[in-house]
Amino acid sequence: MSILKHHKKIETHATLLLVLSFLVVTIGGIVQIVPLFYLENTIEEVDGMRPYSPLELAGRRIYIREGCYVCHSQMIRPMRDEVERYGHYSLAAESMYDHPFQWGSKRTGPDLARVGGRYSDDWHVAHMIDPRAVVPESIMPSYAFLMNRVIDGRYIQDLMRAYRMVGVPYTDEMMENARADFLAQGDADADHSGLLERYPGAQARNFDGQPELTEMDAIIAYMQMLGTLVDFSTFVPDPSR
Ligand code: HEC
Repeated sequence: MSILKHHKKIETHATLLLVLSFLVVTIGGIVQIVPLFYLENTIEEVDGMRPYSPLELAGRRIYIREGCYVCHSQMIRPMRDEVERYGHYSLAAESMYDHPFQWGSKRTGPDLARVGGRYSDDWHVAHMIDPRAVVPESIMPSYAFLMNRVIDGRYIQDLMRAYRMVGVPYTDEMMENARADFLAQGDADADHSGLLERYPGAQARNFDGQPELTEMDAIIAYMQMLGTLVDFSTFVPDPSR
């Protein structure tokens, strides 16, 4: 074959070999990478996923501020021991609105990806105030001070605007109601219909039992929703992905 005849020329000519190898690798790279720019989404779409509600988002910022990720992961790996202990393995879609993600790299404490609904609000309050009161051997620090830090959602709209800039699909309606939704979620007596329409499945109540809205309310609202948005009794993985 004539092509093989030329191949000898390439093999014996170092510079030519280098140039042509580079060309081949470049084409291969382009073929692999370029389609990714045109894909709508590399994450499987999953029913139930929605952006964090304003109060949950505030709780998440407290989680990051306090460094909870230093001891806790939020990523259940698809291995039997993890799935039996923590529940269904984490889906990529479940952290699609996370900036930054909280997968973590160290488990001094348990994984929290599905801690939502596992304990009562009262348990969380007692545990956050004094972990040893409910788990005697715990080495988790106390976060009692969160009970005294009153919040009013003054900056929540700015925070949501920042999240919108990095791609979280907060609608104009969500932005307009940011502060009202923030306050309503922590108030058991408020009208929750708008909040629930905008953030289906949001849990609205007085989380920490105090009349004031505090950082404790926000972080418990966040913990109680973790891993609860996707209904795994109806979830079917897409085998084409
Ligand atoms: C120094 C490490 C450390 C830090 C920091 C830490 N924790 Fe923990 N956490 C633990 C340990 C250890 C446990 C297991 C014992 C217990 O339940 O207290 C735990 C347990 C928990 C549990 C119960 C989980 C379960 O499934 O039983 C929750 C919820 C929790 N932590 C939330 C938080 C939050 C929120 C923060 C940040 C405000 C935080 N932790 C910071 C070490 C830590």
